[in-house]
Amino acid sequence: MEYKQLEHLLHNMSLEEKVGQMVQLPAGMIAKEGVITGQIDNLHLPKEQKALIGSVLGLTGAKDLREMQENFMAEHPHHIPLLLMYDVINGMETIFPIPLGQGCTFSPELVEQAARVAAKEATASGLHVTFSPMLDLVRDARWGRVMESTGEDPYLNAELGKAMVRGYQGSGKGETLDLTKEGNIAGCVKHFAAYGAPLGGREYENVELSERTLREDYFPAYQAAIEEGCVMVMTSFNTLNRIPSSGNKWLMRKVLREEMGFEGLLISDYSAVDEMINHGIAADSREAAKLAILAGVDMDMVSNAYIRYLAELVRSGEVEERLVDEGCMRVLKLKNDLGLFENPFKDGSVEKEQEVLLCREHRSLARDMAAKSFVLLKNEDILPLKKNANSKVALIGPYADTVEMYGAWSFPKKPELSVTIKQGMEAKGVELVAAKGCFMQDEDKQAKVGQKDTYTKEELEALMKQAVEAAVSAETVVLCLGEHREYTGEGGSRADITLPKHQMELLHKVAKVNKNIVTVVFSGRPVVIPEVVENSKAVLMVWMPGTEGGNAVADVLYGDVMPEGKLSMCLPRSVGQVPIFYNKFRTGRPNEEGTRVGFIHGYIDESIYPLYPFGYGLTYTSFGYSEVTLSKETMAKEEILTATVTVSNTGKREAVETVQLYLTDVKGSVVRPVKMLKGFQKVSLKPGECKRVQFEITEEMLRFYTIDMEYVSEPGEFYVWIGSDSDTKNKASFRLV
Ligand code: GLC
Repeated sequence: MEYKQLEHLLHNMSLEEKVGQMVQLPAGMIAKEGVITGQIDNLHLPKEQKALIGSVLGLTGAKDLREMQENFMAEHPHHIPLLLMYDVINGMETIFPIPLGQGCTFSPELVEQAARVAAKEATASGLHVTFSPMLDLVRDARWGRVMESTGEDPYLNAELGKAMVRGYQGSGKGETLDLTKEGNIAGCVKHFAAYGAPLGGREYENVELSERTLREDYFPAYQAAIEEGCVMVMTSFNTLNRIPSSGNKWLMRKVLREEMGFEGLLISDYSAVDEMINHGIAADSREAAKLAILAGVDMDMVSNAYIRYLAELVRSGEVEERLVDEGCMRVLKLKNDLGLFENPFKDGSVEKEQEVLLCREHRSLARDMAAKSFVLLKNEDILPLKKNANSKVALIGPYADTVEMYGAWSFPKKPELSVTIKQGMEAKGVELVAAKGCFMQDEDKQAKVGQKDTYTKEELEALMKQAVEAAVSAETVVLCLGEHREYTGEGGSRADITLPKHQMELLHKVAKVNKNIVTVVFSGRPVVIPEVVENSKAVLMVWMPGTEGGNAVADVLYGDVMPEGKLSMCLPRSVGQVPIFYNKFRTGRPNEEGTRVGFIHGYIDESIYPLYPFGYGLTYTSFGYSEVTLSKETMAKEEILTATVTVSNTGKREAVETVQLYLTDVKGSVVRPVKMLKGFQKVSLKPGECKRVQFEITEEMLRFYTIDMEYVSEPGEFYVWIGSDSDTKNKASFRLV
């Protein structure tokens, strides 16, 4: 439809019809029950109001969505189609690793491909919009939604966020966006802003951050995705410096619209507008509606505010009708950009669904990406395992033979088609004996969603006994432990981020009879596992690997695929260290060793360093790095400085290394981070092979918010670090003049 036709349509709509476009409801309120992702699943609205809404969330399936769209449009006075949205966070039916694991691939290419597959499966299922990428920076492993983020680094999050936008929308910055094209889905950057820094890691808590920290660390990834063309943004639940995001005019109208240039649709999070009442900012839904529309929220997701009060606010003169016109037009424009006026079902097709969902090509990509998301934390010459007949393996643990290896934001309709670890290992033709050993959850714990594991002491003892017997009978134990998939995700904050006590008991019982333990750790967050590391000869962190998890784990354990993942978020030694992250600030009393005590930076009872740092990950070979050389010692602002290292494979197997570039601004008008990731390159090296790896450093990479809050670089000394992880000591220095 031409833009002027949209204007004509808007002009012919009543105030109630325009407000209706700015409302999103769960599918169950107007058609068939879908996935409920909030506290409220019904607002008990009159039928005539429900008949005017603009969007639905939570339902998938070409047949159901087509039926709902047809029935809805027939009733709508202008036959305007619904926008159909859903959380496709790490895959639709073919489930990929959780984004925290995808972050460990350090591969924008793979992330883009996975997003592409997710978009194809989602659009074939009839969807128009996905609530992804989630680009909240995370530094606190107690928060459950770290699983949805790509980690603790602003630069990595920006690069992978842009890749997701390209994958979903089919184009990137400077390219022509065409959402009508088959397989393209509208993306939605969330949660704006800084939802990932709640006080105490407690879900929905206030976030208190300085403007400098917001601009330096938390805004860049959102901004990058918007500049890449993402067409929607979602507000965050949290109050930011005591102002709810959905009513925050500075955040939405100044930062998002004016500074970041976002012109697309701003949707609230689920009931977030009404929740301003609980925040004590709005007396009632009517006032909440006023705050939200004045802040520029275009669509109200599942709350009473807009649908019940926005028209009245306009009629009373408290809100200008032009604000409603603005919001309604953004909704109509997105529908038009998706081609819904011509084809309200977009790519939705039962045949297409059957053809693409879980197809061989998608499964193969999911298997490849899962393997590349795993991080090898420790390996005392036990991996890769040998496939020869006399190396019997005892496969033990609650994760040994379960399909529930997908993240908390995945809703596969056929999870039974996932590949378990046991199936993956058996497919390698090896001899194994499997034993569950214990239940996933301790009997006194309960995942936020799903069944509580209830069992008797006798049942547990029998499982443990069987596992110990299996361990005695085998040469090697592969122990599959981890937290329940619903211990992370929304509402999944934990104050204790260790593994369940019965799983630790199982580990110690097995370790008493067999020292050859390879522990595979499943989790949606960095869990505290020093004891696991101590009692295992090898530890592989696999996060939540998705549909092909079993094949991917077997591929890596047997060396058919080399591990290459690098931590996108560091692993703390204890929960007391959290929040902990590599790009922290220097203090006045440095503690290089990390454990010195006295009048010095740190704790008296814990190191200041994590168990494993950001960017860390081993493989089945070793790499050597030459010293860093620089193309010059001083750099003028308009110049480009080249940093070079030679990386060599000093081991016996071909492998991929993620070479990482960090910078340090030695002195600034404000304290600067000890290191900042500014680049990474993946290089594949054969045994004995060397490759020169170069990074270009520009003045733009040196800019920051100075004491005067100007975003500029300051002359002075900079360190250039190039190495295998954020702990690298391989550095050179130059001066910016
Ligand atoms: C949820 C989440 C958000 C999700 C939305 C729709 O509460 O906070 O990430 O996209 O509601 O399901």
